[in-house]
Amino acid sequence: MNKKKIVVLTGAGISAESGIKTFRDSDGLWEEYRVEEVATYDAWLRNQELVLEFYNKRRRQLATVEPNAAHKALARLEEKFDVQIVTQNVDDLHERGGSTKILHIHGELVKVRSTGDENLVYNVGYKDVNKGDLCEKGFQLRPNIVWFGEAVPLIERAAELVMEADIMLVIGTSMVVYPAAGLIHYTPSHCKKYLIDPNSTPTRGISNLEVIAEKAGTAVPRLVDELLASN
Ligand code: APR
Repeated sequence: MNKKKIVVLTGAGISAESGIKTFRDSDGLWEEYRVEEVATYDAWLRNQELVLEFYNKRRRQLATVEPNAAHKALARLEEKFDVQIVTQNVDDLHERGGSTKILHIHGELVKVRSTGDENLVYNVGYKDVNKGDLCEKGFQLRPNIVWFGEAVPLIERAAELVMEADIMLVIGTSMVVYPAAGLIHYTPSHCKKYLIDPNSTPTRGISNLEVIAEKAGTAVPRLVDELLASN
């Protein structure tokens, strides 16, 4: 019998309890930096060293943190469900938490790509990448991250997955950055949706939705236990 499909859309909030700053919470990452200075293509053209250093700092931090109970619970969900993670996060905590099907729609911190051939992508782990680090064809390497204003090539694939979901979990995202935030509107009518976030987020016009206003670290393991018991 085919397993029910669960699509899980995650944002920075699921990694908050691992110690990684979110973007828009009070002490968020965008408080320390201006987006325009480090996360846009113009920023890259203006000051490659600053952009490279911003991602080097985040990669170094990633080496020091661990997946939390929420990441690990989502991996357990695979025992009885066909689980597809669609994450806006660029950290590797879903991988390290044990999930096996993960779509990084905003890119990955541990990967860099050639500025001369976007098909040349390299896994650098948690190492720094600096000016002068070149791909095999001699072009500068850049973070394999979707910057503001750049295309989100995996969004169509993500929408296709959401259109087939029997259940959708939305965890730790402020739902303010599109096109990712629009994914929740692609669910089929029978799809049961759960939104886990301690703060209230825009849920206008979303049917069949249960809001769980708690932290992911406590709410996700409990919801996973309920889903596993019900199936
Ligand atoms: N558990 C669950 N949710 C949490 C927790 C927690 N412990 N702590 C914070 N949150 C929630 C916040 O209430 C907020 O709604 O996580 C959300 C984080 O929102 P953002 O900081 O906006 O992060 P995100 O939604 O992932 O941002 C989307 O914007 O900056 C770009 O590309 C970047 O992928 C990012 C995108």
